Amino acid sequence: MNKFIIASCIIALTFAWTTSTSQQCSCSDYLLATECQNGFGCYWTGSACQNVDCSAQKDQPTCLNYPTACYYNSTSGPCLSFSSCSKLSGNNTQQCQAQNVKCANTAGTGTTCSDFSCSSFNSTTCPQGCYLNGQTCSNTPTCSSQTGANCALPYCALNGNTCQQAVCSNYTAAGQLSCLFVMPSASSVQPCYWNSTACVDASGASNLNSSTSCFVNTLGAYHWSTANSTATDGSCKSCYGVLLQIVFAILLLLA
Ligand SMILES: *[C@@H]1O[C@H](CO)[C@@H](O)[C@H](O)[C@H]1NC(C)=O
Ligand SMILES: *[C@@H]1O[C@H](CO)[C@@H](O)[C@H](O)[C@H]1NC(C)=O
Ligand SMILES: *[C@@H]1O[C@H](CO)[C@@H](O)[C@H](O)[C@H]1NC(C)=O
Ligand SMILES: *[C@@H]1O[C@H](CO)[C@@H](O)[C@H](O)[C@H]1NC(C)=O
Ligand SMILES: *[C@@H]1O[C@H](CO)[C@@H](O)[C@H](O)[C@H]1NC(C)=O
Ligand SMILES: *[C@@H]1O[C@H](CO)[C@@H](O)[C@H](O)[C@H]1NC(C)=O
Ligand SMILES: *[C@@H]1O[C@H](CO)[C@@H](O)[C@H](O)[C@H]1NC(C)=O
Repeated sequence: MNKFIIASCIIALTFAWTTSTSQQCSCSDYLLATECQNGFGCYWTGSACQNVDCSAQKDQPTCLNYPTACYYNSTSGPCLSFSSCSKLSGNNTQQCQAQNVKCANTAGTGTTCSDFSCSSFNSTTCPQGCYLNGQTCSNTPTCSSQTGANCALPYCALNGNTCQQAVCSNYTAAGQLSCLFVMPSASSVQPCYWNSTACVDASGASNLNSSTSCFVNTLGAYHWSTANSTATDGSCKSCYGVLLQIVFAILLLLA
């Protein structure tokens, strides 16, 4: 059984290299301004990447720019360190979002904010940024339910008239910068790379040989190893150890 698991891990790591949206690097891992200014609550000082200092954000718009790190409350802040939507109160979604755009009053009653979730809307109220899967409003699309412009990368692509799960080869524009990633699920990222004739699945970080593709194509789970993005000695590095990747592979196999 152990041998089977180890063998499966090796196979999973070799042939199905995916990264997870929950494995973003820490701010201090990012050595480049382009990686730091990513919406993950990091702040570029001019020479280094740091966690954003919420108390230094003096108005609502700048505070709301850092929804993973900060929330706005004019009476007690104005900009404070954010932990969870349930710590905030608001009588409706507008009041919750005025403090943190990722929060909403999904119940529609009461004074407690909660995580913004597309599933709290119905088929007629499903807002932009959410996906309508039949009659259900969701954070991610079920490709077979999507039509037209909603059948889109990184989740879905048309095959004739049928919408199906996207694969890297669905990026057809030539060049490394237009070959990004596909998402097999809401939390899983399959990085792609341009092999000089087509966009194909990346089988490891070594396929992501530029500072841009390293960060973008892994949705921030990997970072470029040098502060000089044009130097030839840089490479694409995981922020997690190999051990953690193996643990992750086991979890994937058990799921
Ligand atoms: C802002 O903070 C004050 C003091 O902690 C609190 O009483 C108030 O309810 C908060 N405002 C909102 C909109 O949550
Ligand atoms: C929310 O509703 C409560 C009770 O109806 C009210 O006392 C409070 O002032 C409202 N808060 C805001 C920010 O409108
Ligand atoms: C969707 O929700 C809105 C507002 O809550 C409600 O007015 C409407 O009747 C609902 N529509 C459906 C189809 O359930
Ligand atoms: C996406 O890729 C699939 C599998 O290769 C292919 O059948 C489909 O036609 C592609 N769709 C687009 C829009 O490129
Ligand atoms: C790139 O990938 C395509 C599709 O898998 C393959 O046909 C082609 O030979 C590859 N090109 C190179 C240079 O590896
Ligand atoms: C990355 O590799 C591709 C071929 O796989 C090559 O064409 C490209 O120049 C490389 N880019 C960098 C920045 O080294
Ligand atoms: C970055 O690396 C390139 C290529 O090696 C070199 O020409 C350039 O001077 C370096 N820039 C800095 C700021 O070190």
